[in-house]
Amino acid sequence: MTPSLALRRVSVRGLRNLARVDIEPVPRLNVIAGDNGHGKTSLLEAIYLVSTTRSFRAERAGEVVQTGQDLATIIATVQDGLVVREQRAIVGPRVKSYLVDGKRPDRLVTFATLTPVVVFHPGDLSLVTGPASLRRTLLDRVALFHEPTSGDHRQRFLRALRERQDILERKGSSAAELSVYEELMAREGALLAAARERAAERLTEALTPAFTRMAARELELGVSYRPGGTTDSDQFGAALFSHRAADLRRHTATFGPQRDELELSIDGRPARTQASQGQQRVLTLALKVAELATVRAARGAEPILLLDDVSSELDPARTGAVYEFLRETSGQVFVTTTRPDLLVTPGATIADRADWHLRDGALVP
Ligand SMILES: Nc1ncnc2c1ncn2[C@@H]1O[C@H](COP(=O)(O)OP(=O)(O)O)[C@@H](O)[C@H]1O
Ligand SMILES: [Mg+2]
Repeated sequence: MTPSLALRRVSVRGLRNLARVDIEPVPRLNVIAGDNGHGKTSLLEAIYLVSTTRSFRAERAGEVVQTGQDLATIIATVQDGLVVREQRAIVGPRVKSYLVDGKRPDRLVTFATLTPVVVFHPGDLSLVTGPASLRRTLLDRVALFHEPTSGDHRQRFLRALRERQDILERKGSSAAELSVYEELMAREGALLAAARERAAERLTEALTPAFTRMAARELELGVSYRPGGTTDSDQFGAALFSHRAADLRRHTATFGPQRDELELSIDGRPARTQASQGQQRVLTLALKVAELATVRAARGAEPILLLDDVSSELDPARTGAVYEFLRETSGQVFVTTTRPDLLVTPGATIADRADWHLRDGALVP
């Protein structure tokens, strides 16, 4: 059996409109209700932030600080099998502090992969319909749990890429320093590409059965990782050298994993542009189920699942998605909704389901 992982207590201070919120979630289904604009997504954002060091809707964690405050603080008590730990995130425009049991972890990635969380929110449809960068981020998240160093390769690669482009633009394509950065890019970029390739394989293994299970009729899903660079560092270096003139002319690096794509197709047609909206939704759901499965496998624990805005009278398909996810995971789930009455869980005991109501950023009875 998978060891149990659950938040037992969450305290939020000064995050968006949440001045002071304290909840003690149950290990299974937690329903957060409230009208629009009252802080439901913010509460999920707080949970995501204290688990991953990131927000799923703000570019920078510092943006979440409540207007008029200097810092946002989130404290979570996490039950991880037999161990209980406290995770704390303190963020502000100039501060970022992440602590486990009061101590700074050796590396940020250690903190960010300690309590695995998967989020599903309305914007996720862009995973299928939006730019390739969103699919790269998904691959990177999968890679991070399996190979924590992949994040370092990515960071070092992107830093070297910016330096090289800068030199190219300022000093031209025969500047001597270029080779130093190209060597770095070749080494780190090849490692990143290899990690992404493995992440794509893992994701595909989980994605294909999930999609087949959820699709209404038999559809053929195609998934392929199309690298923008190569996993061979010698080839990578040579390609960078030969791309100098083009990269200067186009003001952007045209070779490398910054141009990776995870191509998705349904019955041979690109899902991004030619699948029906219903098919795109099922594929989005399947991608999330696949993320859940790969993170579960890497981490050896059932990830905590956050489902934002999942039920509305206008969109029964989203309500259906909740039940789909509840079948896919035995772990802790948080859902937000304007209509908790639409989420019927017959037979659920007090231990299985807890309901909260948010009004103007505070819990009300
Ligand atoms: N930095 C901030 N400080 C204070 N309030 C904020 C900040 N950012 C957003 N808000 C407000 O927080 C409220 C809660 O938003 P949100 O969590 O998205 O609500 P819900 O998901 O319930 O619709 C919104 O009314 C928004 O205007
Ligand atoms: Mg919301």
